[in-house]
Amino acid sequence: MSAKRIVIAGGSGFIGRALAREFTALQQGVVILTRSPQERADGIREVAWDGKNPGDWVSHLDGADAVINLTGKNINCPHTPPNLRAITASRVDSVNALAAALAQVKLPPRVWVQAGATGYYGDTGDQVCDEQAPGGKDALAEICRHWEGAFAAAAAPNTRKVTLRIGFVLGRDGGALPVLGRLTRWFLGGAAGPGRQYISWIHLADLVEMFLTAIRREHLQGTFNAVAPGAVTNAAFMRELRRALHRPWSPPAPDFAVRLGAWLMRSEPSLALVSQRCNPAKFLELEFKYQYPQLRPALVDLCR
Ligand SMILES: NC(=O)c1ccc[n+]([C@@H]2O[C@H](COP(=O)([O-])OP(=O)(O)OC[C@H]3O[C@@H](n4cnc5c(N)ncnc54)[C@H](OP(=O)(O)O)[C@@H]3O)[C@@H](O)[C@H]2O)c1
Repeated sequence: MSAKRIVIAGGSGFIGRALAREFTALQQGVVILTRSPQERADGIREVAWDGKNPGDWVSHLDGADAVINLTGKNINCPHTPPNLRAITASRVDSVNALAAALAQVKLPPRVWVQAGATGYYGDTGDQVCDEQAPGGKDALAEICRHWEGAFAAAAAPNTRKVTLRIGFVLGRDGGALPVLGRLTRWFLGGAAGPGRQYISWIHLADLVEMFLTAIRREHLQGTFNAVAPGAVTNAAFMRELRRALHRPWSPPAPDFAVRLGAWLMRSEPSLALVSQRCNPAKFLELEFKYQYPQLRPALVDLCR
């Protein structure tokens, strides 16, 4: 195992796969904590955990350079009370399990980068939210409050702690973009609902670089909006997606159509209807170099 070891809890998913690839390319050892470990041929090690309790996996944190926690039941499901409880528990329990693990190791990681979400701010309409903005009141905001609360309460005296409040991540092989792309190819890529709601998006490549920045810059701690600098309205986003996919026009999808579509796809309509206009104030202050600060080149890159 390389001297620089990164432990990624929940690293088998969309963002974790991209991070694991990047760390491997940088010759850093990667250990993924997962409920379903597989043997792999690419040098990445998958280790079993249950996302709730310390176990044999704890030893992999001893002497690790960094721990990243991406664990959580995917929010792309109907937000019924049982699903909302499972979404919350999977996040809070994993934070608590990692905190308990850090208390047991001799040489804890230098840094813990914790996934959060811009859902923290709730439905904020046109209002621009930087990291100082208050938390929202809807169900996802409440979940984010519990999630961040558990992370804030995690005693890790020798470990720097960073939360990335992640926006809508655009990538080729995961997240919502491939689904929106398919709908758009079928001429179902119209603006959703009023179309005025903001989307705070980020290209996966920039998000990966933000995780690297959080790990490398020794003075960084606290909470950062992990989004591109230009949030756009849903109507503008869908227009750019249609342009990238050569579908000049699609009928708009009024509220009821969004709700019906979400029901048919076993998803949650509010994910398309809430407005989040987030500003990455702290990354801009750091003069973070975005590869994709503008939506059009980001979508052109991902739709090629
Ligand atoms: N993708 C986005 O646009 C976005 C936006 C904002 C925030 N985020 C946050 O960033 C994190 C990573 O996102 P992602 O898109 O990579 O998610 P993902 O693809 O759904 O991966 C999350 C991982 O969490 C683990 N997991 C799922 N349910 C679990 C449960 N009940 N108990 C324990 N582990 C569970 C799974 O690993 P195993 O099945 O291998 O155990 C899964 O690979 C999540 O916390 C998400 O909320 C993502």
